[in-house]
Amino acid sequence: MPRIDHPVEDTADTVVWKGPLGRADHSVLRVPDLETALPWYRSMLGLFPIERRGDTVFLASPVSGRTVLGLTQGGTGLEYTSFTARTAESFQAVAAKLDGRNVRTTVDGTTRPGIRDAFRVDLPSGHIFEVVQPAAVEPSTPIAGEYRPGSIDVRTSHLQLRTTDVKQLTDFLGVLGFRSSLYVPLGESDGYYLQFLRVNEFHHQVAILTGREGTHHVALEVDEADFWKFLDNLVVTKFGAEYGPVRHHEGNMLSIYVRDPFGNRLEITSTMEMVGFDYAPHTANQPFWYHMNMWGPQPPETWEQEWM
Ligand SMILES: [Fe+2]
Repeated sequence: MPRIDHPVEDTADTVVWKGPLGRADHSVLRVPDLETALPWYRSMLGLFPIERRGDTVFLASPVSGRTVLGLTQGGTGLEYTSFTARTAESFQAVAAKLDGRNVRTTVDGTTRPGIRDAFRVDLPSGHIFEVVQPAAVEPSTPIAGEYRPGSIDVRTSHLQLRTTDVKQLTDFLGVLGFRSSLYVPLGESDGYYLQFLRVNEFHHQVAILTGREGTHHVALEVDEADFWKFLDNLVVTKFGAEYGPVRHHEGNMLSIYVRDPFGNRLEITSTMEMVGFDYAPHTANQPFWYHMNMWGPQPPETWEQEWM
């Protein structure tokens, strides 16, 4: 159902204790064939193509009108993921911090509609992150003619990156304002096998695992009732999930994984735990199977072999 929003306007004072970034804003995925992709994303998730910019079509939730994904013509995988800055000053502060470390940022005019300012940065792992400053506080507004009974509100959640150097990427994202929620040390070294990072009070917006460089999945969040609606929609579309439903230990999340017709892996998730801004990093202390799925069934082989 449409949410009644009470958008919070951050100030220089709140940035001091909340940090410079607000949330994951949207991700852009590459697809080899937009004409096949657009109907698929619409029938699976109800995402509405709200605007085309160059080779990228931006998709919005019919319930909130907010852009959560973009699809860009050519190949597969993640083009970039975008995070909001809380204020104009925190946007400038993050850019200045990167500048001070001689990290080059670039401006690309193809970000989503409604953005006043944006820059992109190449991560050491080869991924691209974008920092955006929305033009205004954006209330939730259903899309006229698209919202209908049963519409699911799809929101941006997190993404899982793979890299051979989790510590290097963790340290780099720390400059942008990411904080650790949970990690697994890499043997006796000061490195990490995995790392869960957040920019707000929820458990994670970025997960980093050791492995061949790439993007394992992009996660979209729905309300818990809508999670089960999404599963029942699979009955009708006859498009089988790759894995799930599961209950992850990290973040106590309901999740199911589907791959679009080109292999891009999406996680549909709900009920991520709110841990607070000042949550201290924890180390994982459960058996592996319990981390993945407290209900038991473990991922298929494709999980550890294939990603974008
Ligand atoms: Fe995930």
